[in-house]
Amino acid sequence: AGATGVALTAAGCLGGGGGDGQETIQIGSDIPYRPFEYETTEGELVGFDVDIAEAVFAEELGYDYEFVNNSFDTIIPSLNNENFRVIMSAMTINDERAEQVDFSDPYFTAYQTIVVREDSDITSTEDMRGVRVGVQKGTTGAAAAQTLKEDLDGDLEINEYDQIPDAFSALLNNQVEAVINDNTVSAEFVNGDGEGEVRFVEGEGAAAEEGENAPPYLTLTVENYGIAFRQDDDEFRQEVNEALATIREDGTYDEIYNEYFAG
Ligand code: ARG
Repeated sequence: AGATGVALTAAGCLGGGGGDGQETIQIGSDIPYRPFEYETTEGELVGFDVDIAEAVFAEELGYDYEFVNNSFDTIIPSLNNENFRVIMSAMTINDERAEQVDFSDPYFTAYQTIVVREDSDITSTEDMRGVRVGVQKGTTGAAAAQTLKEDLDGDLEINEYDQIPDAFSALLNNQVEAVINDNTVSAEFVNGDGEGEVRFVEGEGAAAEEGENAPPYLTLTVENYGIAFRQDDDEFRQEVNEALATIREDGTYDEIYNEYFAG
């Protein structure tokens, strides 16, 4: 769906777009994480993050930009090793990460959710006792699974995968009974490749308690995504925050949002 898809240019280095010979901002991201960053069958990088990057870095700030693929589990050390300038990877802002990086203002709200096979008996977190759950390594989904495990007195087996499609494949192949992951990314699978084979665990949860406009299924957490910066890059972070505010005010953000999440 992204109108601003950019071509795959080299292994580990995805193409970018933008201005006219300006400084190039390299953006670290773990790809694929559909609908935030993923390749089309034609090899174009698209997604909500890609379109926000185009609007913020290219259109508002006049930089060129390119996406650099990096495993999510090592992406913060990679940023601090100067392998790229920022992280845009549907990354949740939290205190643990904020000790190592600085975040932009929030640009998206997400919830941890549980997906199970269509024929599963699991209808609540209590039903997760003795279950194998798949998560992506290093994510807040993995952290939510760990919290749930403690709530279940350790009676939960957590299987960590390098990338989220591997966790979904494991669910389809009966290697795990559930996947804990960000709601909109899981929804993409439930309504896409997993259609008719998997479903969300329903119920209220963290989102309802926070009085949010809650999704119609069980939510374990409420989270906000931010762009991550090195802690010595505050001037640039403020520049980006201003651009984020501008695209919220002028309707660009809503346009991009509706392209991916309307209806
Ligand atoms: N929001 C979750 C987190 O920050 C998952 C992000 C995974 N992103 C990705 N591009 N694979 O931990």
